[in-house]
Amino acid sequence: MRLLVTGCNGQLGRALKVALDAADAPAAYAGYEADWVDLPELDIANMDAVSAWFDAHAPYDVVVNCAAFTNVDGCESDFAAAFAANALGPMNLARACAQGGATLVHVSTDYVFPGNEPGERSEDDVPAPISAYGRSKLAGEGLALASNPRTHVVRTAWLYGDGKNFVRTMLGLAERFDQVTVVDDQLGNPTSAADLAHELLRIALTDSYGVWHCTNEGICSWADLAQAAFELSGSACTVKRCTSAEWKQMNPQSADRPAYSALKNGHLEATIGNQMRPWREALAAYLA
Ligand SMILES: NC(=O)c1ccc[n+]([C@@H]2O[C@H](COP(=O)([O-])OP(=O)(O)OC[C@H]3O[C@@H](n4cnc5c(N)ncnc54)[C@H](OP(=O)(O)O)[C@@H]3O)[C@@H](O)[C@H]2O)c1
Repeated sequence: MRLLVTGCNGQLGRALKVALDAADAPAAYAGYEADWVDLPELDIANMDAVSAWFDAHAPYDVVVNCAAFTNVDGCESDFAAAFAANALGPMNLARACAQGGATLVHVSTDYVFPGNEPGERSEDDVPAPISAYGRSKLAGEGLALASNPRTHVVRTAWLYGDGKNFVRTMLGLAERFDQVTVVDDQLGNPTSAADLAHELLRIALTDSYGVWHCTNEGICSWADLAQAAFELSGSACTVKRCTSAEWKQMNPQSADRPAYSALKNGHLEATIGNQMRPWREALAAYLA
């Protein structure tokens, strides 16, 4: 099994390395070989660079794209850069995969949904992003699917792992403050990068191409997530709950985020089984 992992130094890229080397990795990956790349070695937005990389290193069985412009607020002020990384990047990878018959696993986001409807979104629900990040990621989904018939688009949400993420930010703030103010009216699924990485390896082995939702189970608000992180790590810091409107007033440059963006792992359930555990359990494992 030969793999290419792009964006390998990000949270998910790092988790993928751990998942591939773990004892419970699917047997198909035993003795795997992988090329691990990130900026500046390979900019996926650069079509010539992607072609040259594949010319020199392909064939691959599986390409996992963990690369993305993930700064949601930053995407608002630099849509061109967001579109290059999040839309043209997956298109370039998908085209290269198509030439060699490789499977592409491309990771996307709950923020493709507008979040105006309570409950969980299924893979069949119609996306309509309300942020520049969401628009760039939705374009990437479509381009990746259209450019390679063997594409899995895996939407996840509220990711935390080895890197910059909400949980780490909260724990850092808790060391300096007795209380933090956190939005309480946006609901979603906090997801462990480790758990997602394990599922990506399973998804990559199927030929059930198309869109997948993959998040830890259960729904909470950002304020609930912060409080759980404090409780589980033994911090005495408390959470002051605020609304999105109050947050926007304090941070006018911030991107709009969906109120309800929880995802239902329907494709997983219907095919290889949904092994994603409850978010609080996954968070406890991460903090331990
Ligand atoms: N983080 C979340 O809460 C979240 C939620 C839903 C979905 N997702 C999706 O999950 C995936 C993984 O996210 P993550 O949290 O692991 O992201 P991350 O930690 O920000 O890692 C992304 C990596 O991609 C690299 N990168 C950026 N632009 C690139 C380019 N043009 N070419 C090659 N590499 C590039 C980044 O390098 P630099 O650091 O140097 O820029 C970084 O190493 C992404 O597709 C993201 O959209 C994330």
